[in-house]
Parts: sequence; C-alpha cells; structure tokens
Amino acid sequence: MRHIVTVRLAPNTRLRGPSSPGALSLPSMCDRMPAMISLRTLFVLATLMFLVLIALNPSPPSPSLPFSPHPVPSRAEGPVLNPYPDQVTFLVNEEKTCKDPPLALALVVTAPSNAKKRHFIRNTWGHPALVEVTGIRPLFVVGQTVDPAAQATLSQETSQYHDVIQANFRDSYQNLTYKTTALLTWASTYCSSTPIVLKIDDDVIPNPIALQKWLINFLESHPHPSEIMGKVRCCDPVLRSGKWGVSEERYPGNSYPPYVAGPSYMVPMPVVSALLQAVRRTEFLFLEDVYTTGLAAKKGGISHYNIFTLTNSLPNKIDVFWCSGARVFQENVGLKEATRGWNKIRELEGIIEPPEYVFTP
Ligand SMILES: *[C@@H]1O[C@H](CO)[C@@H](O)[C@H](O)[C@H]1NC(C)=O
Repeated sequence: MRHIVTVRLAPNTRLRGPSSPGALSLPSMCDRMPAMISLRTLFVLATLMFLVLIALNPSPPSPSLPFSPHPVPSRAEGPVLNPYPDQVTFLVNEEKTCKDPPLALALVVTAPSNAKKRHFIRNTWGHPALVEVTGIRPLFVVGQTVDPAAQATLSQETSQYHDVIQANFRDSYQNLTYKTTALLTWASTYCSSTPIVLKIDDDVIPNPIALQKWLINFLESHPHPSEIMGKVRCCDPVLRSGKWGVSEERYPGNSYPPYVAGPSYMVPMPVVSALLQAVRRTEFLFLEDVYTTGLAAKKGGISHYNIFTLTNSLPNKIDVFWCSGARVFQENVGLKEATRGWNKIRELEGIIEPPEYVFTP
C-alpha cells in the first residue's frame, strides 16, 4: 500500500491540500502515480489515514527496531593530533531534543545567515507534524558568527523553534570540519539512544518517507551497523590549488583514501564514538568529508556502506531520478529548485503539505 501522510491544515492555509482541486492538476511525474487516483478517492483515503493516525497516535518507530546500542570499538591508536573533540562546548544547546529519541537525528549543517533555508526545512521535510510520522528529526548546527544581524536572527529562531545548536568555533567554510566534529559530539552526548545520525547540508532535500522506509529495512537486516553510510568516493586526486587546494606539505599523497561525499551521509550511533576517537588522532584537514569519513575513518578502521543509488547530485533531474522510487537525497538545490523538488516528493508520497509552521511550546 502506498504510504499516505496527512497533517492538519490551518483553516485559511493557501497550501494545496485535498480540499483544493488544484492539487491534482500538477503535471504527474510518474505515469502510474496519483493521476490515476481520483480526487475523491484521494480525499477519502487521506481522511481515513488521518483518522487512523490520530487513533494510533504514532510514535517514532525506533523503539521497536532491533537496534543495538553496543558501540563499535575504536581501533585508532597514537597521540592526540586534534584537540577539538575534547574542547567542544555548546553556546546554544537543546538538550531535550532527543528526550523522545527519533529514528534518525538529522543534524543540518547550515551557515548562521541561512535563515531562509532553515525556514524552508521547518516547513517541509522537517515540519514537526511530518517528523512525528517519519522519525527523521532535524536539528540545525552552526558555529559562532561575528555578524550581529545573523546572530540576532539565530537568537530569535532558537527562542521560537528550539531547533538550533551553536558550537564554539568560528563558522566559516574553512572550519566545516569543526562543525562535523561538534555535531558528532552532540549526538553522542545528548542523543545516544537514536539509531542513526544523518549529517545533511541545508541545500539537500531528503524524501523523508523513502528515507524512513529505507532505514527501517536497513536496520532490520543490519542490527549491528558498523559502517559509515554514504556515496562512496574512491581515490579522488589531491588538488593543490583552488577552493579545495591542499599543500604538498600538509598532504603529500596523490590521492585521498575512500570517503563518502559530504552533503549527506549517515553514521550509525554505535560508530559515532569510535569515529570521534579517531578524529582525535587525526591531524586536522579543512575538507570535512575527506577528513572525517576518509582520513579519520581509516585511522579508526571504520569502513563504508555505499548508498550511491539513494543520492542524486545532478541539479534539475529530480523528475527523472525520483520516479525510480529509490532516490532519497537530492543534493545541491537552491530554494527555488528545493520547492519544486518538495512538491514532487509530496506528489510521489501523497503528503498533504503541512501548514506554515507555527510554534507551540
Ligand atoms: C576556525 O575556528 C577557530 C576557532 O574558533 C578560529 O580561531 C579560526 O579563526 C577559524 N578559522 C577560520 C578560517 O574561520
């Protein structure tokens, strides 16, 4: 059966729901998809599902999963070469985010000034009403900023939504590796009962229904996950100049060890502390994905589980790829493309768009 998610619509919402005939006039991307279902059937189904959901009062599916909390032992040895894991502190914290542990904690890498992208996420895949159903819960991660306007917006967001954490490093592209170390530290400190940590950039949109299904299947067949899951990249040459340039002195080799691409990857919770142990013993490199999932993972003897079929990094190809049903992550999307992509996901999964996010304490 198709998975249908509905959430309550505000009375005056302008968003298209089953009560607005416009909802089905969207060009259908997959022929056998909702176009075949009449508006009436969809409405009846949606209403039924809504009642069922209310009746069942669904809780996140994590407790019933055969999730093993036994940590993967760290195999990293040698002197401490990176002190940051022992120095991480949180200037803004949300310690209660995982009081009710989600299936996956989505730690969203975002720049302090990206308020619009955060708001988009709160209104789409990260909407609290949808999170109740999917168990994929977002929490935004930022560093410190010297921009007073960005800090003021952040402070307002933290008091209104309680979904931002801020760690003690200066937020910049060159410091993204610190952000990943901070988010892994947060996960292992405040969210250790959640099975999966998803590291995701704010310009990636996941299909949260497809991700939930995939994760439940994965955890059922891999009750003791011990690998980092992502789009594996092998043997990338070391660039010596440009945005990703690294000096010969800092990294003498010609190629990097296998790692997973940075925009979206998952670390099972039992792997997180082993990875942090390895980070301590690996000299800092600003390339976040190469460093954390490549150099440090290698040091810790942690391998990769390739999920390249779940990720689409070609822009404007949402229609083609998501019809295959397997796609979960669309990378590198601007806000306009993200809106289009989200509408496609809604259509594919039968998600009646949540209302504009309203904070309820
Ligand atoms: C990275 O963060 C550290 C610690 O906050 C700071 O001293 C340094 O200036 C930052 N580097 C960049 C390039 O922003």
